Amino acid sequence: MNTIELTNLPLRIAITMDGNGRWAELRGKPRIVGHRAGSHTVRRIVRACRRLGVQELTLYAFSEQNWGRPTNEVEGLMTLLEEFLLQERDEILLNRIRLRGIGNLDRLPPPVREALELLSDASREHKGMTLSLALS
Ligand code: FPP
Repeated sequence: MNTIELTNLPLRIAITMDGNGRWAELRGKPRIVGHRAGSHTVRRIVRACRRLGVQELTLYAFSEQNWGRPTNEVEGLMTLLEEFLLQERDEILLNRIRLRGIGNLDRLPPPVREALELLSDASREHKGMTLSLALS
């Protein structure tokens, strides 16, 4: 199905980010390339959901088990997460999106935690759409 029925949209959507590694492997590329592509897709999804009037979007982006992945992969994912929080900041604020992190956030590296806290605080009162990042 290629069309979206605008009169019958779900108000709440939750997405488990999955398949980035396989996407990259199929193309003979390192896993981090798949994660980067996944993080671009997520940006498009956030924009589309906001435009369509979705009230709550939850992204399961990094599970507790994911801490067990090789150090360079975890570091790469944390870098992508930080980039997302810094680069999307203005657009999130402009579009009145409320961003929040859920999960064991104390485990996140300080720069990621800080970027998340800053954006959560700055967007706390927004009513446009709630974007929850489920992390750790
Ligand atoms: C699943 O793919 C994806 C993840 C474990 C991490 C996704 C997180 C990011 C890309 C970081 C940026 C986050 C945001 C919200 C911008 P997988 O590696 O489990 O794929 P596989 O099942 O093919 O191995």
